[in-house]
Amino acid sequence: MSGTDIAAVAALDAADSLAPMRQRFVLPEGLVYLDGNSLGALPVGTAARLREVVEDQWGKSLIGGWNMHGWVAASRRVGARIAPLIGAPDDCVVVADSTSVNLYKLIVAALKAKPERRVVVSEPGNFPTDLYMAAGAAWTMSGIEVRTAPADRIVEAIEDDVALVLLTHVHYKTGRKHDMAGITRAAHDRGALVLWDLSHSAGAVAVDLEGCDADLAVGCGYKYLNGGPGAPAFLYVAQRHHASLRSPLSGWFGHAAPFAFRDDYAPSPDISRFLCGTPPILGIAALDEGVSVFADVDRDRLWDKSQALCSLFIKLMDERCAVFGFELVTARDPTARGSHVSYAHRNAHPICQALIANGVVGDFRAPDVLRLGFTPLYTRFADVWAAVETIERIMAQGEWDRPEHHVRAAVT
Ligand SMILES: Cc1ncc(COP(=O)(O)O)c(C=O)c1O
Repeated sequence: MSGTDIAAVAALDAADSLAPMRQRFVLPEGLVYLDGNSLGALPVGTAARLREVVEDQWGKSLIGGWNMHGWVAASRRVGARIAPLIGAPDDCVVVADSTSVNLYKLIVAALKAKPERRVVVSEPGNFPTDLYMAAGAAWTMSGIEVRTAPADRIVEAIEDDVALVLLTHVHYKTGRKHDMAGITRAAHDRGALVLWDLSHSAGAVAVDLEGCDADLAVGCGYKYLNGGPGAPAFLYVAQRHHASLRSPLSGWFGHAAPFAFRDDYAPSPDISRFLCGTPPILGIAALDEGVSVFADVDRDRLWDKSQALCSLFIKLMDERCAVFGFELVTARDPTARGSHVSYAHRNAHPICQALIANGVVGDFRAPDVLRLGFTPLYTRFADVWAAVETIERIMAQGEWDRPEHHVRAAVT
């Protein structure tokens, strides 16, 4: 069997209509960055934008900035810019808080909306914060049970006592993608709501919340949306739930009239009711820059490129690294996965460290997964080639086994 050669890979880059998008990011020369699914790269425009918001807006307008520079509407404005990336109407998405906090708000809102039902269904091995926040909601409200079922048994687990199904659309570790339309339909048939965590989907794979009749969603701003470390997150609530669902964190920014300063809480009639406190204007400005990079992009091409990058990586790993004991844990079928590819390997941690030392940045996820993310906006097919070449070299030469690569840092 003749393998893929570098000329074929170069031809993919040459034919890539999205290739110029890479210039919109600051990426260190020579670095193969395959971690945009953990922390997206810095957009070229972000530093100047932050300087403007700090020096010109905050520095010169001070408190007047809330009206003069539209800070007060920033959560809604940037939410509306995220909306087309997740198939949502503009007025159903808002930027707020962290993904964890948004999970809590929407889990409790859903449970309160279905008082005759007491169960949240999720899957074992879901991203920990999703399970932790569900447990926190169960602790706050008495009598709630969090029930887990394996990914392929979720639909069967939606019994008559289930109020909410809580799932991550693209699994953070395996990359497996749930059938959003099918699970949402099954949940609705049984009278339950569904909350989708889109942290590993938004900006990387096609999502059609409205087309799937989804109820609720949340997602990170710092991954594929390139909002920067600790960027605020987003949340989505379908229009039909705006009047009936309420956030348990009834802060003043979710009030119908925050500046009326009334004693009694009256939730805003629209998506703003899911806001809590004063929005982080600097963080939202950086997220706005990250999201604005998507404005002129052909989204179908973006989703196709993400699949093509992952497929090329798997193919090259098959061709060149099959002898090194990597076990593919991500689906081969492009329609069943997100935009990252994971391999289980008993030495995944030192292998990941050796890759980073050789300029290929991915993640290790305990206990044994090497995870590489392919951000279609700025990853080149040549990066995929370079990554596999580096993996082959550090494995063949035993470089992964150097003592320094076995040291564990706080963040993996
Ligand atoms: C699927 C998923 N949900 C939630 C989070 C955490 O969100 P936050 O730190 O904004 O609360 C992550 C972080 O990696 C994640 O992968």
